Amino acid sequence: MPGQSTRPSRCPLGAAVELTDLERNPYPIFARLRKSEPISWLAALNMWYVTRYEDVRAIILDTERFTTVSEHSLLLDTFGAHLLTTEGALHDRYRRAVQPCFTTSFIRNHFEGSIRISAAELIEGFRAAGKVELREALARRLPIQAMLIACGLPVDAELRIRQWYDGFEAALANFARDATVRLRAQHAVAALHEFLESAMRAASGRLDTSLLACLVNAPADNRLAADEIKRNLSIILFGGISTVEALILNALWALFEHPAVLDRLRREPALLPQVLDETIRWLSPVQSATRHVVGDCEFAGVRLEAGATVNCMIGAANRDPTVFPDPDRFDIDRPNLRRHLGFATGPHSCVGFNLAKAEARIAIEELLSRLPPFTRIGSESGPVMGYEFRQPAALTIGW
Ligand code: HEM
Repeated sequence: MPGQSTRPSRCPLGAAVELTDLERNPYPIFARLRKSEPISWLAALNMWYVTRYEDVRAIILDTERFTTVSEHSLLLDTFGAHLLTTEGALHDRYRRAVQPCFTTSFIRNHFEGSIRISAAELIEGFRAAGKVELREALARRLPIQAMLIACGLPVDAELRIRQWYDGFEAALANFARDATVRLRAQHAVAALHEFLESAMRAASGRLDTSLLACLVNAPADNRLAADEIKRNLSIILFGGISTVEALILNALWALFEHPAVLDRLRREPALLPQVLDETIRWLSPVQSATRHVVGDCEFAGVRLEAGATVNCMIGAANRDPTVFPDPDRFDIDRPNLRRHLGFATGPHSCVGFNLAKAEARIAIEELLSRLPPFTRIGSESGPVMGYEFRQPAALTIGW
């Protein structure tokens, strides 16, 4: 297999790591790896793991030696060339085209009002019940509605997007290269592109402030071609759904685990941005950023072969005690809590991070203001799972 590497005897710890343990609770494993090895060969995943903050940062920033471009990338296979499968001038061109719609002020002025209405409607839909499972009723739904709002797509497409999304998600975890899973995703991508094409025709010449209208009506000299718009909108839609679902659930989970912080937040709602940043550090929704080795090279004295996969473990970096003292403690008063790498850094850093934070803030503000004081129903919540993406499987609250 291209890029396959043999486990060097200097990095023995990763070989013993079991996927079930990583899935259940990766943090003790990350701590062991981080302490003993600068880079670990995860035999169970056939890839390298980097767990120290400065190393994760260095690799993500070193686009000469570590790239998102790989013929073996499932992201490329599923969606083609887009922001997260290109580097250099092409990537910069894509980034310049979409970035203006994701600044804090643009989001505040053009998207937040509609997202708040969506959140309020979802919450009003279950307020009389006295109890709700928040993942299904709110966290899985609001991010899709928000993406439809931001992209300028019809909000009644929520169910279709959900179905397509589930097909994409299976394809991106299809390491066994199952042909049926791949075919299902290709059908989903084709259907999404058809849907986007008709929305692009409708947006042509329309003076609105959605991402779609901005892309379609950009000045001719820096307008993306129709295919490029469809591919990049696909990854933007994909990137903005499960990630935000996890942020909403993880922030609430962190608050329930730390009731004194929840009480403080109820008294001082302005603390919510700090709660969100500390959640992204403490319980990172996206735990890794994947890179491929461009040419044979050495990292921390270990030889890496061209094509090998290196997973930069954001979740581990965010608990590195050399940057975040007492890192397993959830502490919204940390002076440096915004130094987390939860949205990565460098050219591929999350383009939607302001939108993600706005959505989670709105969801939690609306929950706190619309529902009577609520508590977590422990027997119907959890467990928190995952080493690539991490969140509770369910979160039921009652009031
Ligand atoms: C809490 C929610 C989110 C988290 C934790 C998150 C995390 C990340 C991370 C870690 C990366 C870097 C990936 C890498 O370097 O390999 C990334 C990139 C990206 N994210 Fe997010 N994300 C979130 C929400 C969003 C939203 C709402 C959108 C869409 C509006 C979005 C769209 C993207 C895109 C398109 C990229 C690729 C950017 C590029 O390659 O230039 N993400 N995200």
